[in-house]
Amino acid sequence: MTDKTDKKASPPLMEKIVALCKRRGFIFQSSEIYGGINGFWDYGPLGAELKKNIRDGWWNDMVRGRDDVVGIETSIIMHPKVWEASGHVGGFTDPMVDCKTSKQRFRADEIWFSPVIVDSKIVGYVSMLETERTAEDLQEKAETLKRKKAIQGKLEPVQPRDFTQATPEEIPLVPSPATGEPGSLTPARNFNMMFETYVGALREESEKTYLRPETAQGMFADFKAVLDTGRVKIPFGIAQIGKSFRNEITPRNFIFRSREFEQMEMEFFISDDDDWAKWHRYWIDWCHNWLLSVGLPASHLSEYNHAKEKLAFYSKATTDIMFRYPFGVQELWGIAARGCYDLSLHAKFSGTSMEYFDEEKKRKYVPHVIEPAVGVDRITLAILVSAYAEETTTDEKGQSETRVVMRFAPRVAPIKVAVFPLLRNKPPLVEKAKEVFKLLQPHFTTEWDDRGNIGKRYRYQDEQGTPWCVTIDFDTLGEKGPDLQDTVTLRDRDTMKQERIKIADLVPLITGKLRG
Ligand code: GAP
Repeated sequence: MTDKTDKKASPPLMEKIVALCKRRGFIFQSSEIYGGINGFWDYGPLGAELKKNIRDGWWNDMVRGRDDVVGIETSIIMHPKVWEASGHVGGFTDPMVDCKTSKQRFRADEIWFSPVIVDSKIVGYVSMLETERTAEDLQEKAETLKRKKAIQGKLEPVQPRDFTQATPEEIPLVPSPATGEPGSLTPARNFNMMFETYVGALREESEKTYLRPETAQGMFADFKAVLDTGRVKIPFGIAQIGKSFRNEITPRNFIFRSREFEQMEMEFFISDDDDWAKWHRYWIDWCHNWLLSVGLPASHLSEYNHAKEKLAFYSKATTDIMFRYPFGVQELWGIAARGCYDLSLHAKFSGTSMEYFDEEKKRKYVPHVIEPAVGVDRITLAILVSAYAEETTTDEKGQSETRVVMRFAPRVAPIKVAVFPLLRNKPPLVEKAKEVFKLLQPHFTTEWDDRGNIGKRYRYQDEQGTPWCVTIDFDTLGEKGPDLQDTVTLRDRDTMKQERIKIADLVPLITGKLRG
């Protein structure tokens, strides 16, 4: 998909989320102490929990909760022939342009340019990186150029084209988006996005292989092996979660497009005479509903159907579930009906039959596949964006204050419960609170907090999206009589209401709330 990103308007929400992620330990830049490395990110203590909850949720719903999908884990480095068969060696490329002056590299289809025409004569060229208002911005640049050069006459409307369409004569005349000066852009060259590496001690061409750019090929390469285990019958799926690597020319928008990322993919194999369109729709709906279950609002989700003429020849249909990120509506989850293309090519390149024998119909065929493929990091970002809220509240003294609250769906919240002793310097309170903490810890990700006052602890937990806080106070110790003894307050993140609960009821109550 092409990014429709407005690079000029730096969205404040993204800045707030990036700052919160760093401050609270969700996401850090990789190797930050060495100045960072572009396109690589680290997940801190809360980010690792959040991501794990997303992965576990998907695995539970996609694999363990179904009897027609099995899960596998394949190696990141595979036989190089896999990538020849899949078409990645030949075709996994982006057209790329270098600016020789600034040493910056751009995707050719993201540089837009136009001749500046005054009274039917070309007087120069303008260029820029694509935005949501490329044509308008180029027109403004053309007007500025005309003014600067003090040229009289009628300026014609710009005719924007992307750099892949520049003629050899135009290339030296188009200004670099980095410097604003012409003469430094190279012609577009195809750049393979796979990271190369060598297996063994010798750095020879014959030992060259790649870090996988998608997890999907692991499922195709192991199709026969899974089939031979006898556990599966068509229709069935093979699912996997794992890291993928792409040497993206322009990694950007925080964790949205990075060079190392994680995918959750599933290949659903169906009979060659089955109704593929029905299964395609089934998996689009499944993915849509799953995204709602992790807290994404329906209002931010939409579907984009790839135009038939733009699909690869083997592809029957591809639908992307799009999410409204602060930087534009972008692809989140792709659901492709890929026919029998992948299995057939692996059969051809490996010499291993990929046919399935239908016992009932007594016939052999190469199964067709529906592939829902999603990035864990893109879901993580969509969840962070959807959860972020700022609210003005009034405290007990009537003073208004703003709280930042991450309204994570409880199933993905990094910390489920926080436990506080009302005062940290009263040993009986602390002792009782420790007891409650130990009771909850085996069941939920639980955090202990005894810093500052209760109000501050609530704000802290709100900012990291903890759905419930448990406070142990003097009533818990029975100071107001036996009725309240061994009860605690349970505070809800969203309503900010507190209820008095028996300690013995905490685990079943929170478990019930988590199940929704
Ligand atoms: N096997 C098909 C496949 O890999 P894709 O559309 O290239 O299809 C699937 O990738 C999903 O992986 C995307 O929808 C997106 O969520 C995620 N993804 C792809 N490239 C990514 C990147 N550079 N950074 C983060 N996520 C990415």
